[in-house]
Amino acid sequence: MARNQGNQMRMLATQLSAALTLLGGTGAALAQDVENGRRLSARWCSECHAIEPVQGKGGRTISFAAIAGRQDITSDMITSFLLMPHATMPNPPLSRKDARDIAAYMMEMKK
Ligand code: HEC
Repeated sequence: MARNQGNQMRMLATQLSAALTLLGGTGAALAQDVENGRRLSARWCSECHAIEPVQGKGGRTISFAAIAGRQDITSDMITSFLLMPHATMPNPPLSRKDARDIAAYMMEMKK
């Protein structure tokens, strides 16, 4: 998969993840979390959302890249969104850590 975001994005993601790790108390490494988030997204989200950074188009609704690209979005917002019941989306059985990993994966696409 093309990885063209550069070191700055990676550093930002690392900082976000570090902050979340402090909040949540999990010790897992970032790369693992993002990879876990990618796997969970492929399983639970790709039916409706385009989940890859390069798949800007396609999918039945807004793509992950488009969500991550919003000015006002934060990883915390995505995590909370995923853990709350929502009308327009099914509620997959995600743990708090799973939700955080998906958020970390999504936020890696932030431009
Ligand atoms: C059955 C289809 C479906 C599945 C599966 C699905 N979504 Fe969605 N998702 C939607 C729809 C529809 C919206 C609403 C888009 C809108 O507001 O225009 C949405 C919106 C969102 C939003 C944006 C909320 C906002 O602030 O507008 C996020 C974040 C999101 N989904 C994440 C996920 C994640 C992560 C998964 C996998 C765990 C997932 N979705 C699975 C249909 C789905």
